[in-house]
Amino acid sequence: MPTPQHPLLFSPLKVGDMQLAHRIVMAPLTRSRSPNYIANSHNALYYAQRATAGGLLVSEGTTVDPTANGYPDVPALYTVEHAEGWRLSTDAVHRKGGFIYAQLWHVGRLSQPQFQPNRQLQVSSSATSARRKRAPARALTIPEIKALVEAYANSAKLAVEVAKFDGVEIHAAHGYLIEQFLNDNANLRTDEYGGSIENRARFLFEIVEAILKVVPASKVAIRISPDCNMQGMKDSNPKALYSYVLNKLNNYNLSYIQLTEPVWGMWLPGPPHATSKLNEYRPILKNPHTKVMLTGGYTGEIGEAALKAGRGDFIGLGRDFITNPDIVDRIKYGLPVAQYEKAGDSYYGGSKEGYSDYPTYDEQESAKFLAKL
Ligand SMILES: Cc1cc2nc3c(=O)[nH]c(=O)nc-3n(C[C@H](O)[C@H](O)[C@H](O)COP(=O)(O)O)c2cc1C
Repeated sequence: MPTPQHPLLFSPLKVGDMQLAHRIVMAPLTRSRSPNYIANSHNALYYAQRATAGGLLVSEGTTVDPTANGYPDVPALYTVEHAEGWRLSTDAVHRKGGFIYAQLWHVGRLSQPQFQPNRQLQVSSSATSARRKRAPARALTIPEIKALVEAYANSAKLAVEVAKFDGVEIHAAHGYLIEQFLNDNANLRTDEYGGSIENRARFLFEIVEAILKVVPASKVAIRISPDCNMQGMKDSNPKALYSYVLNKLNNYNLSYIQLTEPVWGMWLPGPPHATSKLNEYRPILKNPHTKVMLTGGYTGEIGEAALKAGRGDFIGLGRDFITNPDIVDRIKYGLPVAQYEKAGDSYYGGSKEGYSDYPTYDEQESAKFLAKL
């Protein structure tokens, strides 16, 4: 038996209601393989392959409302039928002793009419566009904002009560609808949802509070990307904005806050994490009930170093989980990690290729052996 590595990554951690056996989490990864917007048994196979006893997976972004979607074959979660589709995945993960959270998503202006009900215009905080050739979104009215807040709560309730997820993660990162309210280059409103930081953060906190009325805080998490500037986001004072948001999140006893490293696509393994901009925000998070997950460019070595330095409590991995269903074991025992695709042709959509057909290390080695016989 090889010697286990990275003692901090493989030490237990209580997160909300869950007793995790290790600290490597599968980050949310959209894979666009749910035709008719319903999670299916193939998705369940993919999640089960990546589940470990006492390990947490976060689902791909799952939409909370018919206006929330922006991509083909993304699983939804706002009807009982959607939740029953997801139940296949949660059951499969639970059979392996794992945990799974649902990531609640609305893409806002990053959608297009072809993904909207009746081919109507996509919605956002204001009439802006993230892409030069795309028509600006339609600004949501106040009653529509209130209805969307309720849509998040409805989705959270279905996630926990019908789909049997262990909790929900609010997607407030990477330029999607909630960030379109937070960042002042996208939010041009002059009512109570625009202008001051407090007003721009109102949508986010109304969502948090609506969800907390139907799901306990120990099952509610959030993903934030301070200073990330992805998909057209830019704020005139990101330090003030994200300090306000993170500080206020201390009030809710959430199970965890997931922070993504700025410019995640370009992080290379190596020292930059030690000088990450996130280090400035870490001291703001003071609620002992709320654990801190860090995601973006991590490896076993970098993750262990981050935990040792007190930068976070646990680590999310994205792309490595795509190509290595057994990434947790590979990190634990120092086995070679299969490199993820740089271009990612099979990331979004397709069949089992590049999805559920990646071998574990043992399967890969047996195949090599059998090929020689
Ligand atoms: C194919 C793909 C799909 C993704 N889908 C989502 C998503 O649905 N929700 C989300 O918050 N982040 C999503 N991300 C970002 C990842 O969760 C993660 O933050 C990113 O891959 C950086 O981590 P890594 O360096 O370990 O891959 C996606 C990334 C990739 C590569």
